[in-house]
Formats: sequence, C-alpha cells, structure tokens
Amino acid sequence: MDATARGVDRNLTNYADSGFSRYLRRAFLASAGYDGADLERPVIGVVDTTSDYNTCHQEMPRLIEAVKRGILQAGGLPMVFPTISLGEILLSPTAMLFRNLMAMETEEMIRAQPMDAVVLLGGCDKTLPAQLMAAASVEVPAIHLVAGSMLTGDWRGERLGACTDCRRYWARHRAGELDAEEIVGVRQSLCPTAGTCMVMGTASTMACMAETLGMMLPGAATPPAVTGARLRIGVETGRRAVALAAEGRTARDILTRPAFENALKVLAALSGSTNAVVHLLAVAGRAGTQLSLDDFGAIAREVPLLVDCKPAGAGYMEDFDRAGGVPVLLQAMAEILDLDVVGVSGQRLGDLLAGVAPPADWQTTIRPFDDPLGPASSLVVLKGSLAPDGAVLKKAASSPQLHKHRGPAVVFDGPDDAVRVDDPALGITPEHVMVLRNAGPVALGMPEAGSMPLPKYLAEQGVSDMVRVSDGRMSGTAYGTVVLHVAPEAAVGGPLALVRDGDEIELDVEAGRLELLVADGELARRREQLQLPKVPARGWRRLYAERVMQANLGADLDFMVDADEA
Ligand code: FES
Repeated sequence: MDATARGVDRNLTNYADSGFSRYLRRAFLASAGYDGADLERPVIGVVDTTSDYNTCHQEMPRLIEAVKRGILQAGGLPMVFPTISLGEILLSPTAMLFRNLMAMETEEMIRAQPMDAVVLLGGCDKTLPAQLMAAASVEVPAIHLVAGSMLTGDWRGERLGACTDCRRYWARHRAGELDAEEIVGVRQSLCPTAGTCMVMGTASTMACMAETLGMMLPGAATPPAVTGARLRIGVETGRRAVALAAEGRTARDILTRPAFENALKVLAALSGSTNAVVHLLAVAGRAGTQLSLDDFGAIAREVPLLVDCKPAGAGYMEDFDRAGGVPVLLQAMAEILDLDVVGVSGQRLGDLLAGVAPPADWQTTIRPFDDPLGPASSLVVLKGSLAPDGAVLKKAASSPQLHKHRGPAVVFDGPDDAVRVDDPALGITPEHVMVLRNAGPVALGMPEAGSMPLPKYLAEQGVSDMVRVSDGRMSGTAYGTVVLHVAPEAAVGGPLALVRDGDEIELDVEAGRLELLVADGELARRREQLQLPKVPARGWRRLYAERVMQANLGADLDFMVDADEA
C-alpha cells in the first residue's frame, strides 16, 4: 500500500497493477460525473445511517446535505456511503447485539474505501458508540456528528419526552391510574418530532461524551434535530473534516487518558446513562487507552450532579441546549478538568472555554460546581460475592431508602421468564430482590431488560421501586434501584447463575457491595449441577457469543481490542 497516496488513489483495488487500478477508478468515477478537478480534492467520506427502521435518524438526509456543503466550501470532495443503522426500538433482541457488528463494518468500510478523512453521522443509542469504536481503530482522521434530539411533546398540559416519560406513564397504566384511551393519548405525544430521545438517555449521554472526548465540534451534542442550529453545526463539521484531512490527526491522537477522565467527570455531572460505562470502556479498548470500571466509581465520587435533565432531573435536552450545552457545562467544571486536551477542533480545551459566553439564564439547567443539583456519586460501582468483577447502579435515579437493603431473591431465568412477574402465586413482596439473569452479553447480547417491571399487584398498591439485580442493561432513560451489568454474567457461570429463590441478597450502596449470602459449600454443590447455555449454531450470533467480553471490559469482541493493523 502506498502510504503517500491521497484522495481516490488511496487503498487501491488490487489488480497487481497500480496504474491500471488508478485508471479504472477514474473511468468508473467519470460515469458518476466526477471530472479531473473533482478528483484533485481531498476525499471526505460521510457515513450515512439513514434507515426507515431508525426513526431517530429521519432528518439525517438534510444533515448530510449540510455536511456536504461544508466539505465543498472547504475544497473537499464528499463521498457518502451507507452502513448498518441501529434503531433501538425496531431491533430484536436488542440493538446492543449489533453494536460490535456496526463498529466492525464501519471500520472496514473506512479502511477499504479511499478517503482522507471521514464524517460519521450517528445518533440513536448504539450508533455513535459503534462509530467511536470504529474511528478509534482506523488511521483515517474522523469527526463525529449526531442526528440531534427530539423536541418535547405535551399531554394535558404536561411536557413529555421519550423515554423516561414513556416508562413513567406505562408504570402508571400498569398500576391502573391511566385507562386504555389515555395511554394511547400519551403514546401519541411522546415522540413529536424526528431526533433521538430528548432526555439524558444513552443517545444524549453519548453525544455529550463524544463532544467532551473531543471527537465532535464544541456545541455539536445538543442542538435538537429539527433546528437550523443542527444544520449549521453540520456545515461546520464538513468544513472541519477537510482541515482534519490535511492535519492528519486521528482519533487515537485525541482519545487519551486525560480526555477519558474529562468524559467520566462529565458523565457524573450529567448523571448520564449507565450504558455509557460499557461504551466508553469499549472505545478506550479500541484506542489503546487504559480505563477500568473502577475509574468510573472513583471519578463519580468527586463530581456532583450539575445538569437538570431527566431521568435524574426534570428538564430535557432542548433546555440543556438553551443553557449552552456541553461548552457551558465544561466551563462550570473547568477547575476539575484537564484543559490541555485537544480534540477535532484543533484548539486546546482551555482556550476554547475562554471564548464561551453562557446565556443569561444558564443556571436554570446547568448548576455551578459549588451549588449542585445533587450529591456526588450519581453512578456507583458495586462489587462482592454476587458481582466479583463488578456491577453498576445509577444512584441518582434510585431510591435512597433501598440503598441499604437485604431481602430474599426471586429469580427469573431471562427476559422471557420475566412475564411471570405478575403472578401472585410467586408471593413477591416489596422486600424481595428481583433477579433477572441470562441477560448478559453472551446470553443475549445484553438487552435493556434489567429494569424489569414491578409486579402489577404491588404497583397497584403504590409500590414504585424495588431492588432489582441483573447481568443485563437498562435504558439510559430508565430509573429505579436497579443493579446492572453484573459480571461475570450467569451464562458464563458467574455467581448470578447459582442464585435460587429465597437466597438472601444484600445491597449496600455506600459500601459499594453486592453480596449473595449463601455458604460457599452450598454454592460449590450448586456449581457442580450447573449447565451453561449452548452458543448459537451459526453466523454473527455465534461469533458474538464465542468472543464477546464481559460488561466490565466493554463487551467488545476480544480480538478487536487495541487492534492496530492499519
Ligand atoms: Fe433512538 Fe432513543 S430510541 S435514541
């Protein structure tokens, strides 16, 4: 491969005759209307994740036009290409099963096709993490952009947003507070525009992470999908991509340990999605940057809740954007950040923040560091006999009265088994600890099933939260005292596989402990009888189940980590 080749002469198709390859490329590109002047320009790949199966990305065609305009203005040649698109709601069993597939496909298409830089357009939950993983794996400069969030809806005078309010109203419907007609009314108001979920769920959290890491331009995370501001940041991103092509700085130059430490601080200040833990570990693994699950707990202890967004707060992404978004938040946190990091803008973070002028009323949504919205430790890492390699709890979205809790287990052997939860014969009380296993990476691709519903009869009595424990995930928009990402998972023989109905489980959030109170001898006896599930017979699901790592390592495929083959 000719490392000095540029534009369409990069990564030549191998006919054992490079002159023929260049000639043939120009012949076929001529058929698409490209002339010699076009092909003199730096080629900027633009990743298109438009799909009818991904409603969150429905405005992406307009955004791509804006990006292309910026690329052309700066003297580049945009070339748009599609990849898999992962729409959270229309994929089974879970979009997470395909995050690594999208990361692998995106990486290979960036590497295989000629481009001097790439703009990656994502948004819905797993798309941006997959694209960050891909960007961290290639030697092509990359810049990210997101679809932007939805605007809020309204039902009977109350602002509504996907999907914290989806869950809240569904819980009220299950508790008998909303009838069938009313829940349809709510349903029609939850997602009023194009865009990603407008609370601080996984999509919003990861957009803020990408901006903090320096992989998106300042201010790019928060403008809603249907605004001119979203399109303008698209134009700017296109222009900047051309400059990046000339500079040659790649994601690996940007995704440093200080950049990740800044991101973890912002994650805590946002009380962001627990899914960000898995995704950031995976991105760090691709970038070759040391990052562990323990880092998340340690850094969260230093940072209070600063941003008022659901599910930990009351506001929405459009409020956060109006308050100045990530740049104003970073300015509020400047004293604890590393200001020497340099992202895709090419500017030192400290210099960028010096030019940020917050709007007059920014403190309604973004709180000053010395007057926070909530205490530190919005995210807690738990360890103990039930989670030797760790688990996570979103403390800011849980119930304080359950932070120290001991109760008998009631065990569900996978999301399909959870349909039994409403059966009064199980005798579930508010003191029970509901265990949902076989929802980990190997078992099922780690669906967002961990926040399983409370028994209907308890919900009808006014019970609104119980301790739940799972090797699965929960949506970033969800809430409750839900211990997630238990590692190792049940499907590989983790202690979760040994729990039986009635076993005592103890949660101590302050101490960071999750214990299964069963004698070692009894656990050893149960382990002898344990039968692990078979891996799927073929295809992606087989490869995934055989090679996926546990949640505490980012759930990437083991052979993709820090793979520097470019
Ligand atoms: Fe796409 Fe929530 S479903 S971001």
